[in-house]
Amino acid sequence: MEILFLKMLLLLAGCLVGLFYHLSDLCVGEKRTVQNKPNFIVILADDVGWGDLGANWAETKDTPNLDQMAAEGMRFVDFHSAASTCSPSRASLLTGRLGIRNGVTHNFAVTSVGGLPLNETTLAEVLKEAGYITAVIGKWHLGHSGLYHPNFRGFDYYFGIPYSHDMGCTDTPGYNLPPCPACPRHSAATSHGRDCYTKVALPLFENITIIQQPVNLTGLAAEYAEKATQFIQCASESGRPFFLYLALAHMHVPLVLAQPPSSPSFPEPYRASLREMDALVGRIKDKVDGCGKENTFLWFTGDNGPWAQKCELAGSVGPFSGAWQRQRGGSAAKQTTWEGGHRVPALAYWPGRIPANVTSAALLSTTDIFPTLVSLAKASLPPNRRFDGSDVSEILFGQSHQGHKTLFHPNSGAAGKDGEIKALRLAQYKAFYTTGGVKACDGSIGLEEHHQPPLIFNLDQDIQEQVPLDVKAGEYQAVLPAITRALTDFLQDIATDNVSTADYSHDPAATPCCNPQHIVCRCQASCSSCNSEP
Ligand SMILES: *[C@@H]1O[C@H](CO)[C@@H](O)[C@H](O)[C@H]1NC(C)=O
Ligand SMILES: *[C@@H]1O[C@H](CO)[C@@H](O)[C@H](O)[C@H]1NC(C)=O
Ligand SMILES: *[C@@H]1O[C@H](CO)[C@@H](O)[C@H](O)[C@H]1NC(C)=O
Ligand SMILES: *[C@@H]1O[C@H](CO)[C@@H](O)[C@H](O)[C@H]1NC(C)=O
Ligand SMILES: *[C@@H]1O[C@H](CO)[C@@H](O)[C@H](O)[C@H]1NC(C)=O
Repeated sequence: MEILFLKMLLLLAGCLVGLFYHLSDLCVGEKRTVQNKPNFIVILADDVGWGDLGANWAETKDTPNLDQMAAEGMRFVDFHSAASTCSPSRASLLTGRLGIRNGVTHNFAVTSVGGLPLNETTLAEVLKEAGYITAVIGKWHLGHSGLYHPNFRGFDYYFGIPYSHDMGCTDTPGYNLPPCPACPRHSAATSHGRDCYTKVALPLFENITIIQQPVNLTGLAAEYAEKATQFIQCASESGRPFFLYLALAHMHVPLVLAQPPSSPSFPEPYRASLREMDALVGRIKDKVDGCGKENTFLWFTGDNGPWAQKCELAGSVGPFSGAWQRQRGGSAAKQTTWEGGHRVPALAYWPGRIPANVTSAALLSTTDIFPTLVSLAKASLPPNRRFDGSDVSEILFGQSHQGHKTLFHPNSGAAGKDGEIKALRLAQYKAFYTTGGVKACDGSIGLEEHHQPPLIFNLDQDIQEQVPLDVKAGEYQAVLPAITRALTDFLQDIATDNVSTADYSHDPAATPCCNPQHIVCRCQASCSSCNSEP
């Protein structure tokens, strides 16, 4: 009891003393008080598995902080990312719209000219307009060139990498499958490693400036925690509400670790990385607890399921094995519309508002974050477009248990055309019109198959998606018309919506590079020529 009290006192002191001055410019600019608006923190993990959360899956023992957050908040067990791959999932989180509407249907590359279409409105833009101070810390992956950069998409502050942490070499290549080489140091060195980007080093940005290239990944988790706590600190003192979007480099492939493998208690790389992520989330939660938890809503989730082709360097899908697909070869995780591809861990924490230690089985999606936060901020949704998400605050506050009736799972780089809806959920039923096409750990790529009529699984009885309902069975015949109608209505809704188109063209000049004359753009914080042109 006394220890707990002491800890609380320390946390409180940490907040009041204001140990950090670095970011203070951001918060003192216009000192105005915007009352009655809660703060928002959305923590998005990369390629985290549903089974990577100990609270979801008892076999996992590496997430004590997240499990604690679950015990003090609401845990969702039927919560889905809006796509099964990075850029589309993030675009949907920040717009409340699926890729088929917002235009982001597959990943952006290092040389991509475009990004999230400029006439899409981001959550940060809406909240900034409503008086919020906004920051994104971590992985962006929605376009890094020109006006696609986060500082022009509603974020006052940006600190992080423009895309995934394996999209560019570093000096400590760490763990990957296949292994990747370090950045070359001489022009004579040739790049090698089939799936490795070695032409350009991974850059680290602060606002529009590249401050390090290659980034030192070893200290990145600690730096993210530092910047995030500084931001929470200064924003809390400013009298204005804040929105922090913390898009972690974890899990993806673990790459560099805080602890050397030679240390005696060192677990395998993925688990070590999971612990590192958990500790980072714990630091953020501690900061929130010290700085006004009664007014801060913290939401933790993932962008899509584990990257199965990375084998032991990928996370756990828990019970969502996608057995039907696995029996035929190919992956049933990231990039697929099997449950393992898009059912993600999700926790909501807001002591006093969101009930503690509650599990919700409501069918929800990352597209719900946008309308929910907009509503809690008493702001308005951007006009002239439709949204896939809804305001789910009543579910969060324990006043309702009713989630979505239907959820549409876009194709995310697997079989078929990107962004197309090839799988959907209707209550406990899951229908597939296309399956296959994604590489598994064993190298197999399941044959792309089209199903007309669709495969239908009853997830209440078959969470592994192992045996589809018999087409002739009464249950199949009973549910098929509703599934067909749901898809037809959805496509009709899209056809009459204002939809955007992303520019997916490439130009080597779009590559973020702080010093183009230098091999792999080697550039450190002290470098005076580290400016990238916005
Ligand atoms: C980043 O940009 C914000 C908003 O313009 C500014 O207040 C802040 O000082 C900048 N931070 C750094 C480190 O440049
Ligand atoms: C990278 O960061 C780690 C941890 O902060 C530090 O120990 C190491 O010296 C850094 N490496 C380089 C090359 O700066
Ligand atoms: C949370 O609920 C479970 C049962 O639903 C109970 O066993 C556990 O003790 C509770 N934990 C806390 C911290 O209240
Ligand atoms: C599409 O935008 C136009 C204005 O540009 C607007 O009149 C129309 O209502 C919008 N459609 C939808 C579905 O919101
Ligand atoms: C974005 O711009 C395109 C092209 O002008 C338009 O067709 C589309 O409706 C716009 N999207 C939204 C959401 O307004």
